[in-house]
Amino acid sequence: MYKELGQILVTAQQIRRRTKELGKEISQVYQNEEIFIISIINGAIIFTADLVRSISNPVWLDCIRVSSYRHATNPESEPRILDNFQIDVAGRHVLIIDDILDTGKTISMVTGIIQDMRPASLRSCMLLKKKGTRVVPYKADFIGFTIPNKFVVGYGLDFAGRYRNLPVIGVLKPELQNPPEWR
Ligand code: IMP
Ligand code: MG
Repeated sequence: MYKELGQILVTAQQIRRRTKELGKEISQVYQNEEIFIISIINGAIIFTADLVRSISNPVWLDCIRVSSYRHATNPESEPRILDNFQIDVAGRHVLIIDDILDTGKTISMVTGIIQDMRPASLRSCMLLKKKGTRVVPYKADFIGFTIPNKFVVGYGLDFAGRYRNLPVIGVLKPELQNPPEWR
């Protein structure tokens, strides 16, 4: 058990198995094409690192760094690009990887940017999909796990930059969600 977590939703073993399956699914869908992967960081760092090693196609990999500024003081703000990926993906087969589909704002914004570059195809793979939280409708092509509407951390997901290193995905204890020293 992890002292930060009130509940474990996805174990390390489940993550390992599902990541391998997703890698196979993705490899089959793209046949022998080169896949241009754009990982939305920081959240998708750990998932991306594991997933790309389960994909047998040639892969080109870059990241887009997006801040969702999801703070108690400003929960409604829009996602913002802090650092963009570095090539024109026109005519390429692009796969976006992200940690979680929540309101849908982040993935919709990134999808829009890439779509404007006219890729040959554009798909997305989300580690997690939260139930019933979409503000912007979005349909992902590959999904690791569907979870209830709870605030989760671990395996790349953070609260204020912390807990990304936990090997499981779990619900952060409520008393840690707004500790006095961070106010
Ligand atoms: P969006 O609301 O779909 O745009 O998701 C934006 C980002 O919010 C995700 O990429 C995550 O980084 C973060 N996020 C959403 N839900 C959670 C959560 O339960 N735990 C940690 N981060 C989350
Ligand atoms: Mg994120």
